[in-house]
Order: sequence, then C-alpha cells, then structure tokens
Amino acid sequence: MDTNTVTLSLNGSNHNHTAVNQFHEDVLRGLTSTPKRLDSKYFYDAIGDQLFQDLMNCAEYYPTNCELDIFKNQTAALAKSIIGNDQDDFDLIELGAGDAMKSSYLLKYLLDEGIKFTYLPIDISAHVIEELDTNLAKTLPGLNFRGLNGEYFEMLQKAATLSNKRKVVLFLGSNIGNMPVAEAEAFCHELRNSLSPGDMALIGFDLKKNPKTILAAYNDGDGITKKFNLNLLSRINKELGADFKVEQFDHYPTYDPETGACKSYLISLADQKVHLADYNESIHFQKDEYIYMEISQKFTTEQIKSMAANTGFQTVKYLFDAKNWFTDAIWRVQ
Ligand SMILES: C[S@@+](CC[C@H](N)C(=O)[O-])C[C@H]1O[C@@H](n2cnc3c(N)ncnc32)[C@H](O)[C@@H]1O
Repeated sequence: MDTNTVTLSLNGSNHNHTAVNQFHEDVLRGLTSTPKRLDSKYFYDAIGDQLFQDLMNCAEYYPTNCELDIFKNQTAALAKSIIGNDQDDFDLIELGAGDAMKSSYLLKYLLDEGIKFTYLPIDISAHVIEELDTNLAKTLPGLNFRGLNGEYFEMLQKAATLSNKRKVVLFLGSNIGNMPVAEAEAFCHELRNSLSPGDMALIGFDLKKNPKTILAAYNDGDGITKKFNLNLLSRINKELGADFKVEQFDHYPTYDPETGACKSYLISLADQKVHLADYNESIHFQKDEYIYMEISQKFTTEQIKSMAANTGFQTVKYLFDAKNWFTDAIWRVQ
C-alpha cells in the first residue's frame, strides 16, 4: 500500500483484529436475529469488487450507465455547480468510491481546467483503495489524492482533520439507496452535521421507473447478482471459518412499486445447520427461510427535494440522464 493511503480498519485481504471482530459481530447478530439478515456493506471483498464490476457491465444493470451519461456528457455543468464562484482549493471526497470510473470524468475535467483540489476516495474495501492508489497515479498524473480505507463517517472525520478546506462530498451509484427512505434521511442529516456551511454534497439517486426495468437490473440473465449475493456466504466461510454450502441457497429479488423498495434475499433450500468453526457457533436455517441481504431504494424527485429540505441542505441543481431514470442531486449546506 503506498503512502497516500490512510488505513484505520482493514478488511478484504489485509485483516486487523478490529475489522475481523466487527465482521464476526455483525454476521452473528444478523444471522441470529429474526428475520435473519446480512449487512450489504460486506459484499465487497476482492471477489465482490470484481463481481460488482461485472454487474456494472451487464445489460440489465442500468444505474451505472445512467450516472455515467451524466458524468460523461454534463461534466462542465457538474463542475460549475460544485465550484461556483469559489476559486479556492477544495477537498473532493468520495464516499464508497469503488473504481471511481464515473468520478474520473469529473477529476479529469477539473485537472484540465487547472482547478485546485485534492481527491479523497473513501471505501470500506482495502482492495478498492489499493487499486485506486495504483491506478489513479497512472491514469490521472498530477492528481492530488489520498485514499482513506474505512467506514463513511469515520473517514469523513479523518478527512476533516487532514485539512480545513471546503468540502465537496460525492456519494454516487445510488449507494444512498442501500438504505430505506427514513435511514437515508438520517444519513443525510449526519452528513450535513459532518460538514460546514458552504460545503456541498453530490448524491446519485435512482428514480422510480417501470417496475420490470428495475427488477431485471437485480435479476440479470447471467446470474451475476446471484453470485454477488452468494459471495458473501463464501466470504463468511473464508474469513470466519464457516461451512455454508453455498449451492443450498438461492437468490430472490423483489420490487414493490408502491414503496420503491427493491430488496434481495437468499433463500435456504434445505433445513440445514451452518457452523462458524473459528468461533464455535452454529446457526440453524429452516427450509425456505430467507436472509435479507440488501435494499436498493428507488426515489421520486419530490422525496429527494424534501430530503434536502428536511436535513439542512439547499438545492443547487438536479442533473438527469437522457432517459430521466437517474438524478445526481447537488446540494449546499445552509
Ligand atoms: C455499489 S458500489 C458503488 C461504487 C461507486 N460509487 C459507483 O458508483 O460505481 C459501493 C461501494 O461502497 C463501498 N461501501 C459500502 N458500504 C460502505 C461503508 N459503510 N463505508 C465505506 N464504504 C462502503 C463498497 O466497498 C463499494 O466499493
């Protein structure tokens, strides 16, 4: 890992005890609760990162292409909205940066325009931050950047200790949709409280649309979403010494057009016991019992506007893709 990276808690291939203990604690709490659940933030080990890349390239998974359309074709408008009249050096922080494929268009534009800024990608996956460290130095020479490996808000606090420059926080890919509406609003509230007046947030929201289009994105023909979900069981096997028989679980996605909640479950295909050998624990699954894996919430523009107003943000601009399926909301802290 190069010197650009700050690591407070590691997961992926480089473990420290805190991260492994937290993973164990969260898995055990989730699998002993009723109904059973697993936290989707643990999808992203090195294999999960690759499967997410594959998912982004599959025909049915439209959110990436929609947001890419905005970042590729409206880069100047995006840049103008976050720079405003302020020519001062600023920190561009990205929560859950992944491969930064979309944000790279903005980074390149800002560099080409000679705008002064530092890019601080945050990700819970150590693998993601290692890859960014290697790749950004090559693809965007001259970019000031510093990778932060850890949880969103812990790393946001860390970023605040690194400089007192104005902050612009990117939260792309409809990551905000991995929370139900009330939780997403609480998240925006916490984000607002972590920032100062004049700071900004740019948040990608996936919009409600034809329910069949939405459901297909989480039920792709090549079974990548299924593999992505099942990989978390394999990760628990590898990292916590469990013995999940992965083939004894199936993937079940649903979408409710009334609430806008698209949810993924794993269904136990047999009555079975799973042991976490490293911890001397076992968990019983009834046949047809489900594990709640992830929500991908879809929003209306009205919901997004009231979320901004309720959490102390002022709307600067909403940018939409050509199909009006996705929006990047640009908000300023009042
Ligand atoms: C769905 S991917 C999106 C990646 C990228 N933002 C995009 O739009 O393509 C989510 C990313 O957020 C990271 N992530 C998920 N939960 C996180 C958390 N609580 N703290 C920090 N990073 C997190 C994952 O490791 C993953 O790289």
